[in-house]
Amino acid sequence: MKIAICTGGGDCPGLNSVIRAIVKHARRNHHCDVYGVYESFQGLLQNPPKIKPLLLEDVSEILARGGTILGTHNEGNPFAGSGGQKDLIAAKKVLLAQRFDCLFVIGGEGSQGIASLLVAEGVPIIGIPKTIDNDLPLTDQTVGFSTCIDLVAESVMRLSSTAESHHRIMILEVMGRDSGYIALHGGIAGGAHAVLIPEIPYSYEAIAGKISERKKMGCKYSVVVVSEGATEYGGSPTFYTTSSGNKNLGGVGQRVAQELFKHCSMETRFTVLGHLQRGGSPNASDRILGSRFGIYAVDLAMKKAFGSIVSLQGGKITHFPYTKLNRGERRQIKLEDEIIKVAEGLGICLGR
Ligand code: F6P
Repeated sequence: MKIAICTGGGDCPGLNSVIRAIVKHARRNHHCDVYGVYESFQGLLQNPPKIKPLLLEDVSEILARGGTILGTHNEGNPFAGSGGQKDLIAAKKVLLAQRFDCLFVIGGEGSQGIASLLVAEGVPIIGIPKTIDNDLPLTDQTVGFSTCIDLVAESVMRLSSTAESHHRIMILEVMGRDSGYIALHGGIAGGAHAVLIPEIPYSYEAIAGKISERKKMGCKYSVVVVSEGATEYGGSPTFYTTSSGNKNLGGVGQRVAQELFKHCSMETRFTVLGHLQRGGSPNASDRILGSRFGIYAVDLAMKKAFGSIVSLQGGKITHFPYTKLNRGERRQIKLEDEIIKVAEGLGICLGR
């Protein structure tokens, strides 16, 4: 087979672990010709298309490297808007003209949505889930999430020690878009005292109640993790404008810090963890998950099970058809999920 790999959407730790697994398994065990599509789907639309061979030596040192050696884009769908359908057909033609038997798309909800358009056009694709947000439906975990929550947990612990010295409330704003997986898992793992997630609107009274309960116990500091998409009860999300004019979620941490100062009469500081969450070397868990996804994806291609997305379900690697993915749908924490019970069982205030 002649296969190609592309990465799409925001980067995350572990992308290179997936690329390495695909190249190794496909070349060593299935004698495939393997190529990389550079700069995501946009690379297919360049003249000439940005497609280059990926050899075993190209992936020999990348298991632990952050980011993606193929480059990526998260500035929207290149096949949207006027001329989009023409570009979609142009991308398909590039892959057909170069006689690719399969394109592996390593991406989150946005990129897999774009890939599904190509699947609908008959392009043989296998998808692999990645994103620090862990918000892709139909998989228990995405590549990148585990490393991200390691950093959030470490950050909560670092903030705890300085908060304790100064008797302050520390607010840590984390990513995750409209899903609270990063905040909740990182907050639990780091020992946060309150965690605010998009799935549960918060009230300052509830958070202040938790902080005053801690004060009564002699704990004169608190750490609050707030997800970038979290909103006050009856309020709306906070956005900032990027350099290119896009509206991105962000800024809620500062708002929470200001309000908690008023409600608790304690010094507050906020930290925005930002893109530190996307950078750096994948942890062991993401290296293993990325490798498992990559090997499974190649086996699927060998069985010609195109139009499938690899997934982790109940600890096992499996797959589901692209047709099951509703474009734009993101996985969110459900109130009945065990993790909510765990958080509240530990006395973590979820702002309700
Ligand atoms: O989807 C991953 C993510 O890191 C989100 O958590 C965050 O909202 C967004 O990407 C930030 O994107 P950008 O790279 O445009 O700053």
